[in-house]
Amino acid sequence: MTDSYLQNLFAVRIGGKEYGKTAALYKFEKIKRAKRAALAAHPGAEIIDLGVGEPDEMAFPQVVAKLAAEAAKPENRGYADNGDDVLKAAAARYLETVCGVPGISPETEVIHSIGSKAALSILPAALIDPGDYVLMTTPGYPVFGTHARYYGGLVHQLPLLECNGFLPDLEAVPAEILRRSKALVLNYPNNPTGACATPDFFARVVDFALRNRLAVIHDAAYAALVFEGRPLSFLAAPGAKEVGLELHSTSKSFNMTGWRCGFVAGNERLVRAYGDLKDNTDSGQFLAIQHAAAHCLEHPEMTVQSAAKYSRRMSGLVAVLQKAGFAAAKPKGSFFLYVQAPKAAVERGARRPFHNAEEVSQWLIAEKMISTVPWDDAGAYLRLSVTFAARGAAEERRVLEEIAARLGGVTFEF
Ligand SMILES: Cc1ncc(COP(=O)(O)O)c(C=O)c1O
Repeated sequence: MTDSYLQNLFAVRIGGKEYGKTAALYKFEKIKRAKRAALAAHPGAEIIDLGVGEPDEMAFPQVVAKLAAEAAKPENRGYADNGDDVLKAAAARYLETVCGVPGISPETEVIHSIGSKAALSILPAALIDPGDYVLMTTPGYPVFGTHARYYGGLVHQLPLLECNGFLPDLEAVPAEILRRSKALVLNYPNNPTGACATPDFFARVVDFALRNRLAVIHDAAYAALVFEGRPLSFLAAPGAKEVGLELHSTSKSFNMTGWRCGFVAGNERLVRAYGDLKDNTDSGQFLAIQHAAAHCLEHPEMTVQSAAKYSRRMSGLVAVLQKAGFAAAKPKGSFFLYVQAPKAAVERGARRPFHNAEEVSQWLIAEKMISTVPWDDAGAYLRLSVTFAARGAAEERRVLEEIAARLGGVTFEF
């Protein structure tokens, strides 16, 4: 790129004059490059991609048909702004019937989102002034914290540790940070750990929020993808509506990542603030998409079907990894399996030491053509997603056997 005065105009929050000049590579870019290099070194070979963070199938045919029918209606063509009643009503019913949360007002306690990512990028504007803290879990989905920083806020990281079931230790937050904190952001079932919360934990969160005057933002992007029992909503905890919001999304639960539709529900004041800011940010999701999303919320059996598939694949992957020496345990939900990264791999007498999960991930791509996502934020772990490409149970078994075969000759040290 040639020099331009524009380079001097970039805001400090994205690097100022140095924006775009750093050679540091984002984690997912490193994975992409490693995959390209592995394919170039082994033309025609199959990469088994366990790094994908989205469903492997498209939306259910009935949802595609609903979208087509809704897209043909002239009344759906215009700006949707904060949405009509259809998705709001479906969301309130969904919370009651699927999550056991009665009494959410569709008029005042629900507004749609153009996906949870968009909602997480909007919400900090409602809460964060310069110098305010937000409590975020790590490893985790960073979007709320990124935007909080854009507003001059600060992020205090709460490590998710295996010894605590990957739930944060709320009482460990220093009093001085708590005094300056305004928001606590949680996500269960969790990306990347696959951990689920418990009713007791959510009850403690409500108590903690009330004692410390915090707004709770619960990102429930994987809420309905559970392998046993009903989805656990934060809003089911007594008093939750006094302190926070929950974000739901059709992306993962209904194979609709590209469609961009979800909803924000909970505390009326917070929902209203979200709506005011959203009004100044976007003009709403296409009503046809909202109506197709509402149709999904009326048919949660689609998610149950997907969760059964992920559960079956998860059991298979856990068995394969256990056989290879990993301490893999099946999570209760999401499509992520999170395992401790090995410290070394021994194969044909050669020992390859690893200093962190990223090195393991790069080695797995280069040597075994298996792609995973490394997390080194709170211990060295690998995230493996069961959304790998495979049509049907037989093809799934083939992929799992292939993973077992590729890892077969290796002794991992932990
Ligand atoms: C924890 C978490 N929250 C939110 C999102 C984004 O969801 P959406 O597609 O609804 O924007 C993701 C996507 O990967 C996620 O993992």
